[in-house]
Amino acid sequence: MIPEIVGFVTRREGRKFNSLNAVDDSLVNAERLAKRDDISLYVHIPFCRSLCPFCCFNRYLFKEDLARRYFIDLKQELETYRGLGFGFRDVYFGGGTPTVLMDELGDLIQQLRRQFRVKQISLETTPRELSAQNIKLLKEYGINRLSIGVQSFDEQVLKAMGRVNGPAEEVKSRLLTCQGQFDTLNVDLLFNFPGQTTVQFATDVKAFKELGIDQATFYPLMASPHKKDDLERRFNRVDNSREKRFYKIILKELYHGDYTPSTAWCFSRGERMIDEYIIESDDYIGIGAGSVSIVGGNFYVNSFSLGHYHELIASGRLPIVGWRGLSDKENRRYYLLTKLFGLKLDKEAFRRRFGGDIGAQLRLEMAFFKSFGLVAGDDILRVTEKGMYPVSVMMREFFGALNALREYHIERQI
Ligand SMILES: C[S@@+](CC[C@H](N)C(=O)[O-])C[C@H]1O[C@@H](n2cnc3c(N)ncnc32)[C@H](O)[C@@H]1O
Ligand code: SF4
Repeated sequence: MIPEIVGFVTRREGRKFNSLNAVDDSLVNAERLAKRDDISLYVHIPFCRSLCPFCCFNRYLFKEDLARRYFIDLKQELETYRGLGFGFRDVYFGGGTPTVLMDELGDLIQQLRRQFRVKQISLETTPRELSAQNIKLLKEYGINRLSIGVQSFDEQVLKAMGRVNGPAEEVKSRLLTCQGQFDTLNVDLLFNFPGQTTVQFATDVKAFKELGIDQATFYPLMASPHKKDDLERRFNRVDNSREKRFYKIILKELYHGDYTPSTAWCFSRGERMIDEYIIESDDYIGIGAGSVSIVGGNFYVNSFSLGHYHELIASGRLPIVGWRGLSDKENRRYYLLTKLFGLKLDKEAFRRRFGGDIGAQLRLEMAFFKSFGLVAGDDILRVTEKGMYPVSVMMREFFGALNALREYHIERQI
């Protein structure tokens, strides 16, 4: 019952992010953007060599000319933020597949390093992209955290997903080639996929442990509200009632022992960089088609359409198509969600940000989490083992609500 309650409330809160204001000129000139010089940057590369039917992100089939034009636009967008006084410290390349054009990626990273005091870079890619040449280049580019979307080692499950990874043994050997070459090597694994059994998933978790990889991020399958194609529609019948059984396997295998939880979805050996700029940094800017930003208590949404994104950049504007000023309560709840997802909330940091005690400003929420034993501690609240699954459900529901925003913009090519 607890996961259902916190999930319901989080989805309701998440849906508020879908009511956006139209963009006016003062926003495009970024007067409302509170400038910061030490925030996280997310860079979205929306191209893939094939499109996985279950994927809920903004992605398009790779076309070299479009992708080259896109990288030029990204550099322009970055330049605009620099001109506005922004500075970036931690950079996250996500997608799509950021490695589709390695020369352009290298150029963009060079620009980032020239213009900002970049501390660390995380980058996502797929097993198919792990050629010896790409690994060498990624090391040269100074990638600190490399994240590989494996989804599953089980060929039957991959086939059902419509995912092209290549033979499992080959994927494992490519992963082993990368292990130890980056500060953090992460693999993404999906769970609660329709037809996927808990036995198949437990075998995936064991395979990950046997490989001895630094980190795994486990994504519960999240549906997008209305996909058009038959195959895609199948993935929208996600049965959340099975999900907890999968999550228990994660806890059993990884909660105690060599790995420790970094978030409700991510388990690492030792201190590692994680994928979640939303936890690491209270404010962040997202650049690229379909990226979102949170700055100074406001939420901004970039154009999802490759064409419109390009037109906006070409006209010298930021490619923002909608924004929402979050209310104080929404900001506090969003803060609570992200910190709980990162499993740790520092009450003093909350006080500094919001000018008051969390116990007073989020009275009901705190009473609920404490009385059910989902968090413990005094100055620092930590999510307990019992709280792990409810927090996972909260984030799944929040992303679920954002998927509606993504689909709305993708379908209308806004
Ligand atoms: C957006 S992908 C980018 C990385 C790369 N393109 C890949 O597929 O490996 C990052 C991760 O999102 C997760 N993901 C994609 N679609 C999802 C969905 N519908 N529900 C849950 N996780 C999803 C996958 O685990 C994937 O590895
Ligand atoms: S899961 Fe990754 S490779 Fe597949 S379509 Fe989504 S972004 Fe592209």
